[in-house]
Amino acid sequence: MRKIFSALLAGVMAFSMTAAFAGCGGSSSSTDSSKSESNTSKSTSDETSSKGSKGTLHMATNAFFEPYEYYENDKIVGIDVEIAGAICDKLGYTLEVDDMDFDSIITAVQSGKADFGMAGMTITEERKQAIDFTDTYTNAVQVIIVKDGDDKVKTKEDLKGAAVGVQMGTTGDIYVSDLEADGTTVERYNKGADAVLALSQGKVDAVVIDNEPAKAFVAQNEGLKILDEPFENEDYAICIAKDSSLTEEFNGALKALKDDGKIDEIIKKYIKA
Ligand code: ARG
Repeated sequence: MRKIFSALLAGVMAFSMTAAFAGCGGSSSSTDSSKSESNTSKSTSDETSSKGSKGTLHMATNAFFEPYEYYENDKIVGIDVEIAGAICDKLGYTLEVDDMDFDSIITAVQSGKADFGMAGMTITEERKQAIDFTDTYTNAVQVIIVKDGDDKVKTKEDLKGAAVGVQMGTTGDIYVSDLEADGTTVERYNKGADAVLALSQGKVDAVVIDNEPAKAFVAQNEGLKILDEPFENEDYAICIAKDSSLTEEFNGALKALKDDGKIDEIIKKYIKA
């Protein structure tokens, strides 16, 4: 029953992902929806994991977060997708990647719609109330992006009273929301890229986001820079429904992949020192 349900669900997801993807515009020259429909969710798993005898695991992510998860043509790639693929390979599962809004991931995992969430997700005490986290697989830092030559925001102190763009539901959102009492205006966007676009257009004074996606955004958009002063250090981990035995399985696989250098290898492939 569960199989039938997930097959149905996968069909619906593939369809809605296609719709979402087709709607995001600019990045694809193909308007042939039947083509992208069959590619989106399926090819991702085929690339990253062989067919697992233990069944399929659905990974919830938000695939606009290079280099952790992002679209390359109509395929979702990145550090998280590859690490998840390596874990699933090791444990004998097939991996399917489901793209959704970042702030839907924890609910998807809680409700069982997804088996785990992996999205450059930071371990926080508040999230731990809702879901469990595996051991951390890498760390990151929140940084501040500003417009080149605009000296309104030069330090994190200057965020007080400024208009700041964030991706909704992220730790950037949480930190900057703490400054609302100091007169900061928080503009929340569905995607980090939308926050960065607002910055380019002068609608906000700064964007607070994770350092690696920040580098990718600055490389793709002229006239932006990252402030030297880091904002907050964080650890990324995979989230799994509370008290699931999958957490222990994943931690075992993660340890093995750390010990044999596979995690480092994957990270180095995407992040050049
Ligand atoms: N590390 C931040 C957090 O956990 C941002 C993650 C955003 N990830 C994404 N795939 N959009 O809140």
